[in-house]
Amino acid sequence: MPCDIRPLSNAFGCEVVGVDLKTASEAEMETIISALDEKLVLAIRHQELLPNELAAVARRFGNLAPQHMSDLMLAEETSICELNSANAPVDKNGKPKLIGEGNWHVDHTNLEQPPKYTMLYAKKLPTKGGDTGFANMQKAFASLPESEQQKLIGLKSHNGLLSKPDHTSERDLVKYGATKIHPFIRTHPVTGKKSIYCHPQKLAFIEGMTPKESQELILNLQARTINENTTYRHVWESGDLVIWDNRGVMHKAFYDYDHTEGRIMHRILIEGEIPV
Ligand code: SIN
Repeated sequence: MPCDIRPLSNAFGCEVVGVDLKTASEAEMETIISALDEKLVLAIRHQELLPNELAAVARRFGNLAPQHMSDLMLAEETSICELNSANAPVDKNGKPKLIGEGNWHVDHTNLEQPPKYTMLYAKKLPTKGGDTGFANMQKAFASLPESEQQKLIGLKSHNGLLSKPDHTSERDLVKYGATKIHPFIRTHPVTGKKSIYCHPQKLAFIEGMTPKESQELILNLQARTINENTTYRHVWESGDLVIWDNRGVMHKAFYDYDHTEGRIMHRILIEGEIPV
């Protein structure tokens, strides 16, 4: 029986039911990957994946991309980063420094070939809260006036690890931290749609602007374009494997849960192309 792909919201995103990714046929994989390129976020329900199985499933979506969270990579499967809220360090006010950025961003813009897809597998969910938000940055870009779109197209951003992230070794900081130049507006290689492409915390500057002006630009664009028409909030279910397309969406973690319960996510990244 073919898998069933159903919309999750009016804005974008779908859930996929009736498939076990470990045994999915080539035809099912093609259907899922083309739905992902169009719909940008897929929640594939009812998956049971040990770390080696998650890595094998991920390889069906492409080559795996490196991650710089050196201390959090699983010893048994080094391509997987474990985000475990129970292990989060706390700041001087006792607030947990959770992994999983709480502001809108795209993943790993510090890489020359940043990940096209991020896969997040729910190993353990909190009793309440801990959703993940998604913003369709293709719709966001399309909502801007044509004259403004024209001014943004062609801007180049400089991106890197601007300060040493928690959990990143000195070696990985050197290996993955150096500046990479990307288009601020990128074009999806499959659908041809343009989107606003940026991780504000990794943005050093946009060419022709100061760092402050660059931050103001991205934050202003996010404030004006991310709204109920461009967002989907994923409420996790046990067994969910959520895959998103960083070439079209930004995402953020909601910190509205008791981190001591241990929200455990396994994250794996699929290498993308050099953004254009
Ligand atoms: C992330 O920001 O990459 C993780 C999102 C989440 O933990 O919900």
